[in-house]
Amino acid sequence: MKKDKSCLGPDDKTIDYIASPGGCMEGIVKIPGDKSISHRAIIFGSIARGTSYVEGFLEGEDSLATLKAFRDMGVVIEGPDNGFVKIHGVGLNGLKAPPGPLYLGNSGTSMRLLSGLLAAQSFDVVLTGDESLSKRPMNRIVKPLREMGASIEVDKLGFPPISIKGNVNLNPICYELPMASAQVKSCILLAGLYIKKDTAVIENAITRDHTELMLSAFGGKINKDNSVISINGGNQLVATKIQVPADISSAAFYIVAATISPGSDITLPLVGVNPTRLGIINILRMMGANIKFSNQKEVGGEPVADIRVRFTPLKGIIIPLDQVALAIDEFPALFIAAACADGITKLSGAGELRLKESDRIQAMADGLRTLNINLVTKPDGIEIEGGQFSGGEVDSNDDHRISMAFSVAALRSKKSILIKNCNNVATSFPNFVKLANEIGLTLSEVIR
Ligand code: S3P
Repeated sequence: MKKDKSCLGPDDKTIDYIASPGGCMEGIVKIPGDKSISHRAIIFGSIARGTSYVEGFLEGEDSLATLKAFRDMGVVIEGPDNGFVKIHGVGLNGLKAPPGPLYLGNSGTSMRLLSGLLAAQSFDVVLTGDESLSKRPMNRIVKPLREMGASIEVDKLGFPPISIKGNVNLNPICYELPMASAQVKSCILLAGLYIKKDTAVIENAITRDHTELMLSAFGGKINKDNSVISINGGNQLVATKIQVPADISSAAFYIVAATISPGSDITLPLVGVNPTRLGIINILRMMGANIKFSNQKEVGGEPVADIRVRFTPLKGIIIPLDQVALAIDEFPALFIAAACADGITKLSGAGELRLKESDRIQAMADGLRTLNINLVTKPDGIEIEGGQFSGGEVDSNDDHRISMAFSVAALRSKKSILIKNCNNVATSFPNFVKLANEIGLTLSEVIR
C-alpha cells in the first residue's frame, strides 16, 4: 500500500512494475466493482434506515477508506467478503462523532463527498489524506458549502486537512458548477439531503450521475430537469440492495490493451455502461476501435453490458469537447491509444486532468516522451503523434492510472518498460497485475 511518504516506516516497500514488450490480449476477464458506485453504496447505506446489502463492492483502498470512515462514525458494516457488504444503516441523523480525524488516504471522492454530508452533522470532524490528497484543491467544495452556511476550513492554499464544525443550520442554494465535477455536484446534493427545501445544482457539462441514480434507489427526492438537479431533503432514506457493476474506468486499460495489440480478442462481462461514463468507448470508436456490447441490461438502476474488444489499427482524431467529462478518468489509457494511432490526436478542454491524483497531462507527457513519442502539451490538453514506443523507465507519480496506462503500452513497445511507484494501483484495481497476466500482458512487480 502506498502511504503518505511522511508516514513511510522502515518496513514499507515501494512497488515498481516491469512490463515486457509484445503480446496480445485474449480471454474473458472479470473486472472489479465500480469505485464511484462503491463509495456511494457505503455512504447511502450508512445513512439509510435499515439494512442494505451490497454485491460487487470494490475492495480497493479508496472505497475501503470510505467504509472505514463510516465505521469510525459508529455504523456497523459487515464485510467486505468477496464483494459482499452488509450495512446496518443508522438513519439520516444517526452518525456519531469519530474518535479522531478521518483518514481518507488517496481518495478525493471520499473527501469531497463526505465533506457535504459532514457539514450537516451535529459533531465536529477533521478529514485528512495522504501526500497526494493533501495537495488536491478543496475550495471547489468549500465555496458552495459556505454559501449553504457550513463552517468549514482548509489551509491557506485551499488544501486538506478539512475541519468541519457541526451544529449549523444549512440553507438551500442553487449553485452553478464552475467546472465539470461529479464530486462537487455530489457534495452539494449530500448536504442538501439534510435541508427541507430544494437545493439545486446546475451543471453545464454532463458528469457521472451515480449519486442521483443511487439516491433515487434509496428513496431520496431527487429531480433532474435538463441541466438542473435538485434535492428535497429532510426525509429518511430507506435501505436497499445494490449490485455494483464492473468499473469501466478499470476496464479501460484492458480495452485499450486489446485495441492496440494485433491478434487480441477479449470480453469483459457486466461492465457499467452508464452513458455519463462512456467517453472512453465513444472516443475509441471514433478512432476506429472494434468494441461491441452484448447482454445489455440494467442492474440496480445502472446499465451494464458485456464488452468485447478486438484489435484494430487506430487513427488520430480531434477529441470532441463534449466527450471530455465523460472520459475524464480514462485519458491516461486514451493517451496510450493515441500514441499507437496513425496521425495526431488532439485533446483540449481538459484542464481538470492537471488536478487529479497527479497532473495527468504532465505525468503522461513525461513518460511518453521518455518512450520516444512526439507530443505537445497545452494548459488544457495535449497533442500526441502516433509512433513507436522505445521502452525505458517512466514514473507513475504515485498515480494508479498512470501506472496502469504505461503497463499497457508495453504491448506495442520495442523493449520493456519499467514503471516506478505503482503502489497506488491498489486504490482502484487491486488485482490489476494478476488479471493482466492472465489475459496476455507480461507484467511483474519489483519490490524495493
Ligand atoms: C468521481 C468524479 C470524478 C472522477 C473521480 C471519481 C466520482 O472527479 O475523476 O475519479 O466518483 O464522483 P471530479 O468530480 O473531480 O471530476
